[in-house]
Amino acid sequence: MKTENSFFEEAKEWSCRKMAIVEKYLDGFTKILGNRASSSLVYIDGFAGRGIYGNDIKGSPVRAAELASGKYSNILQCVFVEKDDDNFNDLQQYTTQYYSCVEIYKGELSEYADKILSDAGDRAVLVFLDAFGVKGMGWKTVQKFISRKFITDCWLRLDHRTILRLLGYIDSDSKDARGKLDLLIETFGISDLNLLRQLTDAPSSLERIQKVVKLYQSRLKSCMGQNGFVGSYPIISLDGQKKYHLMFACKNRKAAVLANDIVNTVEDDLPVKQAEYQEHIRFQKTNQPSLLELTPSLEEIFHYKVNGLKQKILELLQSQSDILTIHYELLNQNPDLFGTFRRKHLTKALSELQEEGCIELDGAPSKEITKVYRLK
Ligand SMILES: C[S@@+](CC[C@H](N)C(=O)[O-])C[C@H]1O[C@@H](n2cnc3c(N)ncnc32)[C@H](O)[C@@H]1O
Repeated sequence: MKTENSFFEEAKEWSCRKMAIVEKYLDGFTKILGNRASSSLVYIDGFAGRGIYGNDIKGSPVRAAELASGKYSNILQCVFVEKDDDNFNDLQQYTTQYYSCVEIYKGELSEYADKILSDAGDRAVLVFLDAFGVKGMGWKTVQKFISRKFITDCWLRLDHRTILRLLGYIDSDSKDARGKLDLLIETFGISDLNLLRQLTDAPSSLERIQKVVKLYQSRLKSCMGQNGFVGSYPIISLDGQKKYHLMFACKNRKAAVLANDIVNTVEDDLPVKQAEYQEHIRFQKTNQPSLLELTPSLEEIFHYKVNGLKQKILELLQSQSDILTIHYELLNQNPDLFGTFRRKHLTKALSELQEEGCIELDGAPSKEITKVYRLK
């Protein structure tokens, strides 16, 4: 079994996709919100890690530090927290060259959360909470970031596998149960175990995962108030294992749309890569010729998504709306859509609906301010 210590020996393909999502989002976030005032934005990597993996892949803090010292110098400030001594030392070494835009704290995020947030003042913040399992991601700490009253966007890793394991202790009389249940309570910030059981109970583990994700999403949303948005996307390995959920929380429609589009940009060709991977494994086992032509092409996937969106647009469009609102409401009203489509799919869906006489547009379908009128 893989241990925490071996995590940084090699960056796995799914970790690379997760890091690419957060890095691209930080880039977009800084481009949109950064002004020339010194260090106007803050990136907080609460579980920063080693900085560089054994296979030379850059980790999330180094990627952020590169942006903060290059393209966004004097705009973006990075704050990293790392608990492990060795990882902290490596991180310090890998980021010395970026010293002017990086601050690193050694210890637990919970110890530093108040100070980091107070230092951030009223600046816009992007937080990345990427713990192993759920330890260190206690609700009290997460809540401090999520409920901040200034602009705060947050990516966090929800480890549903660990949570399902912890839930299994609710009816257990094992001597470890108390500690595990305390961790569960701390993670959700819900102390009533019967309520936790009730909210996550389901006949299959797939449905239990969905309930765990939904419960955590609703916890986050309840902290953020009326404009809160929480998207959730399962990170699945090439061999089809659901590793964890990457969640995104914000209070701004454009931020939600940007996060969604970035996830989709990174993940768009995953079904094709998964099919190629499975084909490779199958070929190694059987030496039989390829079945790859049976898997859908990128073009087929594109049309399939466009058709799905057309249906959903008609479901939500009453009389008129602008395209940004449609994009956002598709995500807000259909939690499963987060990360599964982006602007190009929406543009095509709107063009086709216009050709079919279902809607009228007062501008280009690619512009977010264009108004859409329902005709039938
Ligand atoms: C999954 S790794 C982070 C990987 C990193 N985000 C990346 O993409 O390269 C989690 C890291 O958090 C550290 N850690 C664990 N608990 C922590 C805590 N309570 N506070 C701060 N760091 C912690 C671990 O030592 C580990 O290095």
